[in-house]
Parts: sequence; structure tokens; C-alpha cells
Amino acid sequence: MEVKNQVSLAQYNSFSISVNTPLFAEVTTSLALQEVLKDPRFKEALILGGGSNILLLQDLSRPVIKISIPGIRIIAENEQTAIVSAGAGVVWHDLVMWCIVNNLGGIENLSLIPGLVGAAPIQNIGAYGVELSDVFHNVIGIGRKTGDSKIFDAEECNFGYRDSIFKNELKDEYVITTLRLSLTKINHQLHLDYGGISKTLDEMGVTAPTIDDVAKAVIRIRSAKLPDPSKLGNAGSFFKNPVVLTSKAVQIAKEFPDMPAYTVDENFTKIPAGWLIEQAGFKGKVFGNVGMHKNQALVLVNYGDATGTELWEHAQRVMDAVLAKFDIDLEPEVNLIN
Ligand code: EPU
Repeated sequence: MEVKNQVSLAQYNSFSISVNTPLFAEVTTSLALQEVLKDPRFKEALILGGGSNILLLQDLSRPVIKISIPGIRIIAENEQTAIVSAGAGVVWHDLVMWCIVNNLGGIENLSLIPGLVGAAPIQNIGAYGVELSDVFHNVIGIGRKTGDSKIFDAEECNFGYRDSIFKNELKDEYVITTLRLSLTKINHQLHLDYGGISKTLDEMGVTAPTIDDVAKAVIRIRSAKLPDPSKLGNAGSFFKNPVVLTSKAVQIAKEFPDMPAYTVDENFTKIPAGWLIEQAGFKGKVFGNVGMHKNQALVLVNYGDATGTELWEHAQRVMDAVLAKFDIDLEPEVNLIN
């Protein structure tokens, strides 16, 4: 394993922010990871996957360990189900495409989500009515302090909306090396009700959709709405969709009858942050090098050589405006790193 000094992270984060780390190591096996975790210089290291859900605020004083563990394979199967194992360094969308090619159903709605496999369980990635937790089998993590590997089942992961134990009680305690999913080989359960998938399938002329068709529809919707991070720096949704008291949502809807909302339970309602930000006047508006995207106001964009601080200042401007207009606190979905 090669350790490098003073490495720019510009190519390792989807905002393309150019900051340096004093020390950088890339690992391609669990063994190499265990070795570097033992190295005292890497004690406080930032663990980096695809860098598609972080905002780097300034040059780092700590080292970086980049996880590039490859490999996708079936480790167990019966007539109905296959357990697929993927290395943390696999590109998430490559895993989705591998599953489609092998006719394994369950993650087609999660097509084109940026990032690597290792980050998927940490924030329980989700899109178009499906969350990772719906198909999760288990995950292998290596303890940062102990170097021991441990398997976590779904219950232990404590999954929630964009949330898991790895963002809470076990934050920074484990590095994920392998993810295993339980996928269908036959009788795929398609999820078509959310976010215009049915409408898109109609437009595509598909009447009896396969998992491949669903993936194509999701790719079509996402490509039309969400900017490609390789062309325009961004990290997908910058904020979580806020969950508010239903009484408050009802009150807002009186003034804004077109407000989209999703019932969470009898007391709480989720309001799309993109809608709130659009109503606050920020959709497509550019402030210097930064702004909220013209097609999806939830996406913070780096239009040029913005610094992490500039992006964060804009995020705070948006949060302040939404708070002032709706009395709702937006919470970043992206991890702030300094
Ligand atoms: N909306 C607006 N204006 C906007 C954006 C959205 O009014 O600028 C409205 C839409 O019209 C729609 C509602 O808000 O009625 C929801 O919009 P959309 O379907 O685009 O989804 P979202 O709630 O904004 C979430 C995820 C996305 C995921 C989509 C599709 C979060 C924080 N984001 O966005 O995830 O792709 O649903 O399932 O939950 C990501 O996490 O990076 C991400 C892109």
C-alpha cells in the first residue's frame, strides 16, 4: 500500500472542491485496511468512499483513507433469492447494472445514485419509493480501534430515513468493507408508484415493465432533473426533507394549497425541502460561484471554483430563508468535513 503526502482531494469529492490532505492511503483489500488502521499516523483519518455526500470546508489537518475494495459476486442462492456481496469500493450504479444484467431484482429504483457501495448503508440511500434497508442482508465492518471485523444484520444497523447506527451510536467506529443484499431471482416486486415512474414507463411505451425497464425509467427521470456531478459539482440532495408536525403542515397548506407532502404517521408529515427552497426564491438563482439547481432546488451546485466555505455560506442563507418564511429548520443531508 502506497502512502502519499500532500494530496489534493479535488478528484475525490463530487463538489470538486480543491483542498489538501497531509497524508493519503488507498486500500483495495480488507487486510490492507486493517494494516493502515493500525498505523498510528492514520488514527484520526477521514474515511473516504466516492466523496459524493461530503462538503470539504477547508484543507484537512488529518489523513485520508480512500476505500477502493472491489468485487461483486453471489455468495448464496435458492430458487427465489440470491445474496449478492459487493466490496465497499464498487461504484453503486455499477452494482445496480450488474444486478440488472444478472436479472436480480430489488435495487433498480436506486439506479444512478452517485457514490460507492460502502456509503450506501451508512445513510440508508433511497430513491423512488425504495430504500437500501428494503433489500439489505448484512454488512461487514472493521472496527477502527480494534481492527476486528464484525457482521451487522439489519436490526443492528437501526435504519431510518437517510439514517443508520453508523451515523449515530457507531459514528466513526467502523469502516464498511462489504455489503450483502438479498435480491429476487423471480417474481420481482416492482415499485412504480413514486416520482413519476409509471408516467415515464408510459412515455417509453412499456406496458409490462421488467427491472431493466424500471432502471431505464429511473435513469431517465434522474438525468432530466439532477445535474451530473462530473459536469457540475454537486452532492445530490443537500438537505433532508424535513419532518414536521402535521398541524404545522396543514397550516402551511392553507396558504399554499399546492404544497406537496407525505404522511409519515398520524402526527408527522414530510415536506419536500426542494419545494420549500423553491418557494423561498432560491431555485436556479446563482450567487457568485454557487446556487440551488434550476431543475431541483434541493441540489446545491458549484458553478465554478467555489470553496467549501462559499457553498456552506449559501446553504446557511437558504436555511435562514426557509426558517424565516416557514419556521422550518432544514438539516443538511451532506456531511460537513473540516
Ligand atoms: N419540488 C419542488 N421544487 C423543487 C424540487 C422538488 O417543488 O425544486 C417538489 C416536486 O415537485 C415534488 C416534491 O418536491 O412534488 C418531491 O420532489 P422529488 O421527487 O424530486 O424528490 P425529493 O423529495 O426532492 C428525494 C430524495 C432524492 C431522490 C428523490 C426521488 C431526499 C433528501 N432526497 O428528493 O435523493 O432521488 O426523492 O426519490 O430524500 C439524494 O439523496 O441525493 C437524492 C437525490
